[in-house]
Amino acid sequence: MTTLATTNPAWERWLSTRSTVRAARDMQRVDTSRETLFDLASNDYLGLGSHPQVRHGAINAVCSAGAGAGASRVAGGTWQVHRELEAALAGYTGRSQALVFSSGYTANLGVLGALGGPGSLMLLDAHAHASLIDGAKLSGAAVQYFEHNNLDALRTLLAANATSAAPKPRVLVAAESIYSVLGDAAPLRELAVLCAQFDALLLVDEAHSLAAVPGGSALKSAGLAQAGHVLATATLSKALGSQGGAVLLGGAGAPLWREHLLNTARTFIFDTALAPATAAAAHAALDLATEARIGQLAANAQLIRTVLGAQDQLASRIQADAGAVQSVLMQSAQQAVQAAAELREQGIAVSCFRPPSVPDGISRLRLTAHAGHEQDELASALAAVARTIRKVEA
Ligand SMILES: Cc1ncc(COP(=O)(O)O)c(C=O)c1O
Repeated sequence: MTTLATTNPAWERWLSTRSTVRAARDMQRVDTSRETLFDLASNDYLGLGSHPQVRHGAINAVCSAGAGAGASRVAGGTWQVHRELEAALAGYTGRSQALVFSSGYTANLGVLGALGGPGSLMLLDAHAHASLIDGAKLSGAAVQYFEHNNLDALRTLLAANATSAAPKPRVLVAAESIYSVLGDAAPLRELAVLCAQFDALLLVDEAHSLAAVPGGSALKSAGLAQAGHVLATATLSKALGSQGGAVLLGGAGAPLWREHLLNTARTFIFDTALAPATAAAAHAALDLATEARIGQLAANAQLIRTVLGAQDQLASRIQADAGAVQSVLMQSAQQAVQAAAELREQGIAVSCFRPPSVPDGISRLRLTAHAGHEQDELASALAAVARTIRKVEA
């Protein structure tokens, strides 16, 4: 007799094989806690997640609206805090409309899913975030990748579609304003011009630039806030220290784009709305994401570049120059893992990226700058980082 406790041997064997393979490749992930380490790893760049005004915003929303939104946005789960947050996000980024999702991941899945189908072609930067890749794949569009930040490679793909016997009538190019692992910036203006030449849409993921670059938005700084053919997504979980995601729209067509997404983005329609507390926290954080705080973040990011760049063996291996994310190329995945583990033992948290999470197969340590770090503390943590890398590479 089959009992409910029975497990399927094929699945069990498969699980066990996958685990063995991961262990053999030294690829086991761990759900690390933040504890009390010196934080060069989290994305709470401005330290707003724990700011008293942000906490109070969340608490007040819980007291007035309760713990959860109760339903999807289109089934009675829209609260005043959602509308206020959307207006604030649009105002902050200089765009006209915003639509809030339950995460940055679902915002990307939602917007790409709503623009997919057999008539669409999606061209993604090779270093695009997993949520953009998953969204494009799930969308039913044809998907191609172009070499990271290479405008000529993108132009070749756009031209190949335009001159093919059966061109896809709707083309979308997806990029990140600041790349989450490399930390470098996309050439936004050039991308926008190129997309306009080919009547393509440009989707820019502002996950690492919203409230983290001077001006608060990379698109706004590039003069593209009102470019109608440029869509943006963002997360509320990084510089805003809360949780949630957003699509940000500009130009004359923004209301129609918003209406389309509200009606067709599956992760908006079939997902419970952002909890009122997280929406209110993100809104409070937005009010605190001032140029002064962003300036402190930029100064600390610069200190990371300067201190590590002054080390002979690291000078040519620091990748980023754009925002809070600083990447250090490592010689092997093993050394990257070992350096991160040894730094952890010294009380310093850094992230470690290695294949298969990096499309170019190069392992990296990723350091994220924080506005709240005192420069002398940061400098001694960086000295430990340099020492530790030297040690594991000796
Ligand atoms: C570029 C990019 N897009 C999207 C996301 C997903 O955002 P969230 O954590 O809000 O789902 C991340 C977070 O890792 C990211 O780095």
